[in-house]
Amino acid sequence: MFRLVCIGCGATYASDEIIYRCRKCDHLLAVQYDLDSLEISREEWNRRPLRLWRYRELLPVQGEPVTLQEGGTPLYHMKRLGEELGLKELYAKHEGMNPSGSFKDRGMTVGVSMARELGMKTVACASTGNTSASLAVYGAKAGMPAVVLLPAGKVALGKVAQALMHGAKVIAIRDNFDRALEMVHELCVTDGIYLLNSVNPYRLEGQKTIGFEAVDQLGDVPDRMVLPVGNAGNISAVHKGLGELIELGFIDRMPMMTGIQAQGSRPVVDAIEQGLDPLIPQKDPETVATAIRIGAPVNAEKALRAIRETGGTAEAVTDEEILAMQRDLARKEGIGVEPASAASVAGVKKLVEAGLIDRDERIVCVVTGHLLKDPETVIRQCEPPIEIDADIASLRSVLH
Ligand code: F0G
Repeated sequence: MFRLVCIGCGATYASDEIIYRCRKCDHLLAVQYDLDSLEISREEWNRRPLRLWRYRELLPVQGEPVTLQEGGTPLYHMKRLGEELGLKELYAKHEGMNPSGSFKDRGMTVGVSMARELGMKTVACASTGNTSASLAVYGAKAGMPAVVLLPAGKVALGKVAQALMHGAKVIAIRDNFDRALEMVHELCVTDGIYLLNSVNPYRLEGQKTIGFEAVDQLGDVPDRMVLPVGNAGNISAVHKGLGELIELGFIDRMPMMTGIQAQGSRPVVDAIEQGLDPLIPQKDPETVATAIRIGAPVNAEKALRAIRETGGTAEAVTDEEILAMQRDLARKEGIGVEPASAASVAGVKKLVEAGLIDRDERIVCVVTGHLLKDPETVIRQCEPPIEIDADIASLRSVLH
């Protein structure tokens, strides 16, 4: 049993309404369960494989989901990096290990399943890349046409490749993500297409399971969860999910929710630093971490609340810091992530060095997308392969 509730005025809507914003006050909607009526036990959850659908009682899908076995991503203890920073318990939850290589698959297995249950025929999104890749994949699995709008020239190669290969209709607009989102929203509302950006309350239900898994894998609540922030959906989703676990009595406290943005794209950080609510959108965001190149995050209201209510914080890191951490993760931990994902760990480094994170904290960084998503940014940072003649002497000569 669940319904949709406006996060602004509390107005409620039936779960089968196709609606993304409150008709009374234009705020976003959230899924609200009647937790008392749900039959859930932690023991039962623990008997199921560690995957997103382990948590199905707290997900809105009623029938068979459209699934590619998402979730159950590894939680790595980063001993080397942790030691360097003086942190005993620094973890990375590697969301790049999902079917399409990012956490978006958690949202899409739920969102596309709901599209089918609601009788929708076509799905659409705007994207900085990963959402489009994931929607193309799950649209293919569901046999449902997918339309994706991208900011022209600003999407990493691997993500465009995925969207194209999995058969989405890929449209690049000559403007940024924020404009693409406005356009696709309008198109969906007028043309009866199902919108699967993070304004869709069902999509975020899938993403909240990152927090559930982190708790189950650690066997405890982390002191802090650190996420890269773009449209601010993921940090809001994880916070919402953990709130439900508290209400159910499964956990007894909330981690400090911490959001990291790129220096050139930092409206949430500014809002936290200056005590603003609502935030002031940033006009021309720019960063090497194209996944989080977003100036007007639609979920900002929830994200600011999550950060403030949990005693968390927000920090910005430069492109240089992001890329340096991408290399450190790859070379010191064997964890290959795209730039936006490295931002979360780069943010921890910065906060530790500024004395704003206690070294005893148990910290989970969500690393959101796989290294291969953005091969061009990787190649630009690395020396090219050493080409030699095919003889042993030449081989030795470059090794010694
Ligand atoms: N990390 C990666 C790799 C992402 O692709 C995104 C968002 C984020 C972090 C930020 O998550 O938006 O929930 O705050 N990517 C979206 C997309 C915008 O279109 O793929 P958020």
